[in-house]
Amino acid sequence: MLGMVTMNLYLETYGCQMNVSDSQKIETLFGEEGYQLVSDFHQADLIIINTCSVREKPEQKVFSALGRYLPLKRQNSRLVVAVGGCVAQQWGARLQQKCSGLDIVFGTHAIDVLPAMVREVRNTCLPQLDTAFRSAIPSLDIIPRYAAGTLTAFVTIMQGCNNYCSYCIVPYVRGREYSRPSDSIIAEIRQLAKNGIREVILLGQNVNSYGLQTAGELNFPQLLARVNEIHGIERIRFTTSHPKDLSDELIAAFVELDHLCPQFHLPLQSGSDRILERMGRGYSTAEYFDKVERLRQVCPEIAFSSDMIIGFPGESAEDFQKTVDMIRRVRYDTVYSFKYSPRPGTRAVSFPDQVEEAVKKERLRIFQTLQDEITSKNLRKLEGTTQEILVNGPAKRGGDQWVGRTPTNQIVNFSSDENFTGQTMTVRITRALRHSLKGDIVQHG
Ligand code: 5AD
Ligand code: SF4
Repeated sequence: MLGMVTMNLYLETYGCQMNVSDSQKIETLFGEEGYQLVSDFHQADLIIINTCSVREKPEQKVFSALGRYLPLKRQNSRLVVAVGGCVAQQWGARLQQKCSGLDIVFGTHAIDVLPAMVREVRNTCLPQLDTAFRSAIPSLDIIPRYAAGTLTAFVTIMQGCNNYCSYCIVPYVRGREYSRPSDSIIAEIRQLAKNGIREVILLGQNVNSYGLQTAGELNFPQLLARVNEIHGIERIRFTTSHPKDLSDELIAAFVELDHLCPQFHLPLQSGSDRILERMGRGYSTAEYFDKVERLRQVCPEIAFSSDMIIGFPGESAEDFQKTVDMIRRVRYDTVYSFKYSPRPGTRAVSFPDQVEEAVKKERLRIFQTLQDEITSKNLRKLEGTTQEILVNGPAKRGGDQWVGRTPTNQIVNFSSDENFTGQTMTVRITRALRHSLKGDIVQHG
């Protein structure tokens, strides 16, 4: 009888695109169990928090969220509360000791067993914990169900990381690198294309090393070539790359593969070789810049984005200046920049020369002001050009306004009396705004 009743799921997600993708899978699994998604947590029978621990701030958000949700169990005895993702992986049983009443802690390899854990709690009222690392990760093969009309899908191709950069918690909470079999990836994307998906974003902590640990598996450029052949997929993007693993073969893919978008997220982290060395990144700024230039030679319109850590231990004013110089040289479209955040268990926590909070804060402000100027300048350069945009749908502010994206992933707003959602159109860029563009239709279809 229980299976017939619709129950309410409130799902809260922090962090990266992989967490967003994991939440889409969780939503799909619970859809099959008879749960519908609600936006008001007061109505929930099940609350799931999918967490991130890459920096301290998103980690803190988990504890304040639990402070909000756990007291609700006093009024609603049916309510089950679960915490998953990177914080759950890291804290494990300690999370249930610290937060009494927390029913479920599920790690980054346990998404597929989560519905069974919820059923177990409902049957036995006993808390459940699963933070085991699996050698193959079953949840990678869960295909999320997308709402009709969805154009873009995330496809996880690998998970985990073997790099152990000195600041980073990811290898400890996502586990060692595991590449999903290419047959399963191709089958999923074929299915997505049949269901109307036009753009795929291939996800992994380091997609460049896809397949390298598995005998007989395709490597990343070979996988891209296979995806490029799938009928109906017009745009292929991927994230994240490690500069040291960016191969000549991948650079050549930007010439050879017509559906591969001219966009590259290539985290630099610091513009100082001394700091890169201490981070354990395995490349110099010269090697990085050489790869950027070679990509620009084969694909002049390519747009770069990056992650940057400001105030890593030992970062002097001179090191910081080198980071600033580097963003001027590369001219990124977007940089996701954060103050260095000490993470328990990583090597950099015990580096003696931690940078003062106020210094980090000031450097971040200077950095972001400059990057904003570079972003605006790049957008202004597009004024007067024509761009092929894939139309995503109506703009948030409604009316006759619509929104699409360029191959380089810039947002373009335009007006039209007709609905061209899902179509590729040519627009002339008329104006650059702070983070987006305005355009006029030149041609559609
Ligand atoms: N402090 C600040 N930023 C970090 N990142 C990873 N670990 C830390 C940390 N301890 C950033 C890196 C990475 C992105 C996902 O998060 O820039 O590329
Ligand atoms: Fe973290 Fe470095 Fe792995 Fe990226 S490559 S996930 S920064 S350890």
